[in-house]
Amino acid sequence: NPANLIDPFGRHIDYVRISVTDRCDFRCTYCMDEEVSFLPRKDILSLEEIVKVAQSFIKLGSKKIRITGGEPLVRKNILWALDKISHSPGLEELTLTTNGSQLKKMSKDLFNVGVSRINVSLDTLKPAQFERMTRRDKFHQVVEGIDEMGLYNFKRNKINSVILKHQNDDEIIDLAQFALQRNMDISFIEEMPLGVITDHDRAAAYMSSDDVIATLKKHLVLTPSSLKTGGPTSYFDVENHSGHIGVISPHSHNFCSTCNRVRLTAEGRLLLCLGNEHSMDLKPYLRAPDEHKITLEDAIVEALALKPEKHHFNLNEEPQILRFMSATGG
Ligand code: GTP
Ligand code: 5AD
Ligand code: SF4
Repeated sequence: NPANLIDPFGRHIDYVRISVTDRCDFRCTYCMDEEVSFLPRKDILSLEEIVKVAQSFIKLGSKKIRITGGEPLVRKNILWALDKISHSPGLEELTLTTNGSQLKKMSKDLFNVGVSRINVSLDTLKPAQFERMTRRDKFHQVVEGIDEMGLYNFKRNKINSVILKHQNDDEIIDLAQFALQRNMDISFIEEMPLGVITDHDRAAAYMSSDDVIATLKKHLVLTPSSLKTGGPTSYFDVENHSGHIGVISPHSHNFCSTCNRVRLTAEGRLLLCLGNEHSMDLKPYLRAPDEHKITLEDAIVEALALKPEKHHFNLNEEPQILRFMSATGG
């Protein structure tokens, strides 16, 4: 019953982002430090538990599930869980956000298990800059993965680029062209302050979406699009191209009033908002259901009452949220 999934601000929460691991094979400088401690295995939900939570959300009326990480494709046997979730009656789409490193070998299987759309993070087209931003020398592997993904009939695929001043802000047009040439969409993202990261000055690196769009308009004809994918991107149509260009602007154009989503962390904490700590631990309802008076589904409904109205990100202060993006799945 979708009526269960309404938060105190009247928002319909029908989009669940599920982080299946906090581990990642990259170390993006805006996301985490080179040295990070990952969660112990026993604290991470099993794939069976992940499928159970997903199916509970679907029973409650969720239409869209996005699998995230860390890097979701480094989780062992992830295809098994994707297959189960995508075939759960009532779900409209199973989507995936990935850094692309495994797409060369996994695109075919991802398509076959029923993933409908994939968003791939790619912030630069220069191999040396890629290595600076991800601390890994895997640019060509990612591009080969993106091209492999293009061979299958996914409903639509998107590039995500976090734009940082003096790092990749000279590549906005090239990144857009890279996506458009492949009939893909692209979202340009304003960096969000999650976790304290050594040697990275977020305020200095801030580039507003309005500046990104102004740059693009010097080369491309953009008009506001009717395309909606259920996430925070606001899209433009591009003259002579089938792909769309979008922006995710948590700082310059707050989108919280239309929020439709919650997140499950890899440890089974249901996080009500990316920019707040309000959460409910679902693990006890999974691991010891008999010790609780309410079911997992009841717990999810109760948790929605805790959803905050909005984030209070401020790049000029120390981050209020100490968890890294990798622990949350973005
Ligand atoms: P679509 O289904 O294609 O619309 O995907 P999406 O944009 O919802 O998902 P994706 O994983 O590609 O996320 C892109 C960026 O949007 C990431 O940087 C996320 O952290 C950010 N994002 C997604 N949802 C929210 C949100 O609720 N609040 C904020 N502040 N950022 C979000
Ligand atoms: N701010 C904004 N986006 C981020 N991502 C990771 N960390 C941050 C951050 N601090 C992006 C990744 C990926 C998406 C899931 O989130 O680049 O595209
Ligand atoms: Fe929703 Fe919180 Fe993201 Fe705002 S910051 S869009 S309320 S999850």
